[in-house]
Amino acid sequence: MDKNRKLIIAGNWKQNKTAAEAHDLVVGLKRELGTVKEVDIVVCPPFTALNEVSKLVLDSNIWLGAQNMSEHNTGAYTGEIGAGMLKEFSVRYVILGHSERREYQKESDALVSAKLQAAHGASLKPIVCVGETLTEREANQTEEVLARQLKGSLAGITGELMEETIVAYEPVWAIGTGKVATPDQAQAVHAFIRSKISELFNPSVAKHVRIQYGGSVKPGNTRELMSQPDVDGALVGGAALEVRSFSDIIKNSI
Ligand code: 13P
Repeated sequence: MDKNRKLIIAGNWKQNKTAAEAHDLVVGLKRELGTVKEVDIVVCPPFTALNEVSKLVLDSNIWLGAQNMSEHNTGAYTGEIGAGMLKEFSVRYVILGHSERREYQKESDALVSAKLQAAHGASLKPIVCVGETLTEREANQTEEVLARQLKGSLAGITGELMEETIVAYEPVWAIGTGKVATPDQAQAVHAFIRSKISELFNPSVAKHVRIQYGGSVKPGNTRELMSQPDVDGALVGGAALEVRSFSDIIKNSI
């Protein structure tokens, strides 16, 4: 946390919650978090719950995010959802290049970059995910992998738009495993990511970009992670599915 960058904590619900279940979760979050001003709070439901959640968060301090989008605005792309369709539901953020999509949908850095440009074209705020696997970390390839992902995924945008982009560092070995990165491990990688952004853009851009940590974030490990100077928030999976755990994460970050 650095006082020049506002914390951003987002819940990535993945393939969980019907619209009815989403309703209950968001009503609970509004009750628990209604007075929080220090953190940008974001929920990212599945597409099918966006309509329901968009109505609920309209008069609140909770922002709406999507988990993915097409690189195309419209057209013959069966099953895809474009930025304009997300805007219709007042979506403000969009997660791009999550490791699950990189793995299961074979999303490449080039595709993430195309989506990034489409998101900015529609004034959505992208959350670009990067992270190494356990094999890559054990082979001492973490920095090399991240450098490649950042260069490829962040290609094609100006420094001005980069400042509006959020980067999420999600080590694949920490996602859904309960094996959270230590605060020192997270800080070291976040500082490296910031230095790469400085090289790819410039130091002023790097100073403004918010870098989230994701991977087994829980109420009990939030405070220490968020106190690291280059950790500017969290991207939360499992613990974002319950009112108590997600609201405790937000409260513990302040
Ligand atoms: P978990 O918090 O369940 O480890 O998931 C992290 C994640 O992938 C968020 O995008």
